Amino acid sequence: MAADRPTDEFGNERVDQLGDERVDHRFKALPPDAEGLTVAELAAERRNLFDGGFTTPVLALSAESVEHNLALLETYAERHGLAFAPHGKTSMAPQLFVRQLERGAWGITAAVPHQVRVYRAHGIRRIFLANEVVDAVALRWLAGELDADPEFRFVAYVDSVRGAELMDKALRDAGASRPLDVVVELGAGDGARTGARTEADCAAIADAVAAAPTLRLVGVAGYEGEVPQADGDRVRAWLRRLTALAADFDKAERFAATDEIIISAGGSAWFDAVADVFAEIPELSLPVCKLLRSGAYVSHDDGHYRHLTPFNRVPDEGTLQPAFRLWAQVVSRPSGEQAFVNAGKRDAAYDLDLPEAQVVRDARTGEIRPATGITVSGLSDQHGWVRTAPEAELEVGDWIGLGLSHPCTSFDKWQLIPLVEADGTVTDYIRTFF
Ligand SMILES: Cc1ncc(COP(=O)(O)O)c(C=O)c1O
Repeated sequence: MAADRPTDEFGNERVDQLGDERVDHRFKALPPDAEGLTVAELAAERRNLFDGGFTTPVLALSAESVEHNLALLETYAERHGLAFAPHGKTSMAPQLFVRQLERGAWGITAAVPHQVRVYRAHGIRRIFLANEVVDAVALRWLAGELDADPEFRFVAYVDSVRGAELMDKALRDAGASRPLDVVVELGAGDGARTGARTEADCAAIADAVAAAPTLRLVGVAGYEGEVPQADGDRVRAWLRRLTALAADFDKAERFAATDEIIISAGGSAWFDAVADVFAEIPELSLPVCKLLRSGAYVSHDDGHYRHLTPFNRVPDEGTLQPAFRLWAQVVSRPSGEQAFVNAGKRDAAYDLDLPEAQVVRDARTGEIRPATGITVSGLSDQHGWVRTAPEAELEVGDWIGLGLSHPCTSFDKWQLIPLVEADGTVTDYIRTFF
């Protein structure tokens, strides 16, 4: 990819170049007879997922469901006065980032510096790193990016005095000319993940930032998804601590060097609570950017997030649609109770729940029917263990369409994912960078 080609506000030109990549053995499931075509050429052929030469297992991403989910969170954020920096670690797919930005996203969230590099290589101009970064090499690279591109906006967490000192030293050593914007991370409670545990710790960190000429304090942030024994009350109570911290910092004039205060929280399990509590933020001395960071919503799922989605509590505000279906083929049917498919841990998310057998595509007729009496009972590296009840109709050669649980660990097993319309037409291929 030519890094010097111009890019529009959303990174479109850089992302368009993904279509120039050649299709070959690196990409699981893509048609062997497409070898040597570019991705754009293959997409233009509009092949059918079922008889267009794809091999199994093949992960399909529903074009309609992704579109629906993108639109739903755009309107949700708008309706609740939230800015949106969807977490990009979910998909690591610049084509989806562009679509999120076109739908009004403020920027894209990252978890680690490598992800920031991927985003920058694809023209992303606003990045929120929801983590502390104290790696001197990464900070030197970031300083270079900030110096080279006045339009690059970058914000990172700081969650310790030592962290602020390490950041400052690395940035000074790198000769950084623009200060790096930081938000103090408030931990989500005792025993939670990262983040300072008390308001006093947060104030000490803010003091350390104020003493560091290479850093600029622009807000506060945290992740309610890690609130211990999370329920609506505990999550709201923690979010109120976060917003009170912002108000206290503002009163103490700790945001004097910025013209906007960032207050950020929100994954895909509690954005209703974030919307409620952020709506209560009193007027501060500067405009407030209330930044939501949901990522998993983009594909949603058939397990973990199906249970956790806030839309179960606020159905009037919409419903997300699960966008993944993993198609695996029955390669063994050794008994009436057992079958094995050719997809395993290499292909399906398995960290939270096993895949869910949803439909069977009959190898003889091409007909698709519900996967009655069929359950996935385990996964080996390259095999799925399937249990069948007496009423299950299944034979070697049939395809099983599986629903998955956990978007992040579904995307990361596939580097080029067919984007498929409801009738099976593949309209594009989504490139991921893990
Ligand atoms: C700090 C942080 N922010 C935002 C998110 C996004 O949450 P979700 O994956 O539920 O959309 C995550 C997910 O792990 C996270 O760790």
